[in-house]
Amino acid sequence: MMRLNEFCGLDIKLDTEKTRLTFGQGLNYSEPGVRSLDQMKEVLLDKNISEPKELYYMYRDVYRIADKALLEKNKLRYDVTLIKPDALGREFMKTAGHYHPQSFGELYEVVYGHCYCLLQKPAKEEYRNIEEVVICEAKAGQKIVIPPGFGHILINPGPDLLITSNWVSSVFSSEYQLYKEAQGAAYFMVKSSTKEPGLIPNTYFKQLAKIKSVKPNPRIEKFGLLENEPIYPIINENAEKLSFLNHPLDFDYSEVFI
Ligand SMILES: [Fe+2]
Repeated sequence: MMRLNEFCGLDIKLDTEKTRLTFGQGLNYSEPGVRSLDQMKEVLLDKNISEPKELYYMYRDVYRIADKALLEKNKLRYDVTLIKPDALGREFMKTAGHYHPQSFGELYEVVYGHCYCLLQKPAKEEYRNIEEVVICEAKAGQKIVIPPGFGHILINPGPDLLITSNWVSSVFSSEYQLYKEAQGAAYFMVKSSTKEPGLIPNTYFKQLAKIKSVKPNPRIEKFGLLENEPIYPIINENAEKLSFLNHPLDFDYSEVFI
């Protein structure tokens, strides 16, 4: 068992053998949604693989029961995701990918491990033209703000399990269809012989922007977000800081990456 309290701000432990979370008293949680290989085949570069059978686990709507009214009032949801380190054929382990409707963004935190977040912004009139591609590499304690209009996947390059948490508006559902239609994100991240992972463009897209490599800004002044400060307690300390999640177009995102 590994305690995650100081990393995520909630009394949560990781059962390292079962790859599952256990929740302390006073926390609301439910069984995780399990993303299986069958559900993910469409978005993989290598569609003929047979292992691993399970890829990642989504614990949606985790909160301190005492905070229930606060989350409802602020129209927010907090989730925790465990992403296994196994390879998917040539590709690194990843999530299915989705867009948010309208302009909703998201706030991610890496709780444990190391990840790449691949963000892509399609042209308004043609979603097969990707105008911006951003790869953000992040490690435990760092935060990734998803700006309006960007679809996103998380990639676990391993060798450790990746645990992320996120705050997101509770008023919408994510849209997975465009990633399924495209059979993946703008690029597939694959193992390479160099230190840097390889990136294979997805031929579904007619136009693909060049990849911009970024890091999370450790101090996002306009959002009042600091590296190594867990994101759950923001709801208790200053929920206003999360208002960008329900009013995404009122904010300036130019500082979220460096
Ligand atoms: Fe999202």
